[in-house]
Formats: sequence, C-alpha cells, structure tokens
Amino acid sequence: MLSVRNLSKSFSGPRSKSVLRDISFELEAGDYVAVMGESGIGKSTLLNLLAGLDRPDSGQVLFDGVELNSLDDDAATRIRRKHMGFVFQAFHILPYLTVAQNVALPLALNGIGNKPMRRRVGALLESVKLGPRELSGGEMQRVAIARALVHKPRLVFADEPTGNLDPESAGEVLALLRECVKGEGAAGILVTHSAAASKTADRTYVLTQTGLKAQGQAGAGRQADRRRGVRDRRRSPRS
Ligand SMILES: Nc1ncnc2c1ncn2[C@@H]1O[C@H](COP(=O)(O)OP(=O)(O)O)[C@@H](O)[C@H]1O
Ligand SMILES: [Mg+2]
Repeated sequence: MLSVRNLSKSFSGPRSKSVLRDISFELEAGDYVAVMGESGIGKSTLLNLLAGLDRPDSGQVLFDGVELNSLDDDAATRIRRKHMGFVFQAFHILPYLTVAQNVALPLALNGIGNKPMRRRVGALLESVKLGPRELSGGEMQRVAIARALVHKPRLVFADEPTGNLDPESAGEVLALLRECVKGEGAAGILVTHSAAASKTADRTYVLTQTGLKAQGQAGAGRQADRRRGVRDRRRSPRS
C-alpha cells in the first residue's frame, strides 16, 4: 500500500543539514509499525514526506502505486483527506468545537451528510470510550484517535502521540490506538522516541543518521503469528 524508495531529505539554510538518507521500506494494508528514533533525528520530517506534506530531495513515496511527489498540492490534499488519518503529540483538538464536532471534522471535509456523520462519530467516541465533557490530556488524545479514524482512512500516522501524557495515560492511549487502528482495518505508523511505546507495534524500524533499519526482534504477538504461518489475518476486510 505504501512503498518508500530511497528517500532523502535535507534542509538548507544557515544550519543546513541532511536529515533523512536513503530511506526505504514497505507497508502493507493492516500493518502497524513503529518508527523509533531520538529527538531531532527526523521522525516528523519522515511522516511529512510519507503523507505528501513535504517533498523529498530524491526518492519516491508511492501510495497505492501513485507517487505523491508527482501530484499537485490539491491532489495530494485529496488523498490525505480521504485515505489518511493523523494523531499528533500536541492533540490539536480545537477548543471552540465540541468533542463530537472535533471528531466530525474529517467527515465534514469529505462532504459527508449529517445523519451518517452523527452515527459514525458516535461509534468512534464509543470506540475510544468517551462521552462529551471536560477533557484531560489522555482524553484529548482519545478524541484525536477517533478523529483520525472517523473517515475510515487506510493509513494512520501517529507522531509521538504520548509525548505530552503521564505514563499511565500514555499506556492507555497506546493500547487504544493500536486496538482502534487494527479494529478499523487501517495500517498505522507510530513514531516515537520510546522503546516501550514501539513495543505496541507489530514491528519496529529504528531511524538513525545513517538511515532506517528494521529492528531485529519482531513484536511478541507477530512473532507467534509468523511461527504459525499466519499472515493474512491482519488484512482485515474493509467496508
Ligand atoms: N522546516 C525545517 N527547516 C529546517 N530544519 C528543519 C525543518 N524541519 C525540521 N528541521 C530539522 O530537521 C531535524 C529533524 O527534525 P524532526 O523531523 O522534527 O525530528 P524528530 O521528529 O525526530 O524530533 C531537526 O534538526 C530539525 O531542526
Ligand atoms: Mg517530531
């Protein structure tokens, strides 16, 4: 579904630097992977390139065989709006909207009518175990998870989603994120500097200055799957 080929990116300017070097990897439908790397290494830069929000210096990002870099901004925006969901460290919940209105945003952008919108928003708020009221950080992130999934994206990006949370809420949010992404049949890329957080993914890539490498150990669940030869289970059918 997502094919990343020899991606490189540097930033010019007074402190010009090469951030991503020759990054390649494949993501299949239903995959849930982590990209782990220290702060400032280029994780957010990578997500921006994968989502077509920024352009690489060289290399390609193919989403369903379409090279994002070949699209104009409007076409890239349409793909993002329809097929991608985002969860950010800073929540980005809009305070002047209700919880339900926040979750409904991607549907409104996709022109979905009121009635199906209400039904879908209600279902997602139920998935993240929330009702409408004052929100803690963990609860705001649960709203963000519902919003990231409400339009049935095929790919969900989560950029340090627990960076602003206490450890207990972080654990809950990570478990919920995985459960919801898998439950909706979407693929997910979780970006984090935390080894503990990356363990919630099926497999982990480590981003360093020399590039992106698959981490030796697969997640426990996935390893067991592989031993039994189970592969297609994660390709859940999409409605
Ligand atoms: N628009 C930009 N212009 C110049 N430098 C940037 C820009 N965006 C990010 N950087 C630099 O690229 C490096 C990687 O940033 P980032 O992708 O945000 O790292 P991470 O998300 O892993 O913390 C940092 O040194 C950052 O300062
Ligand atoms: Mg970042």
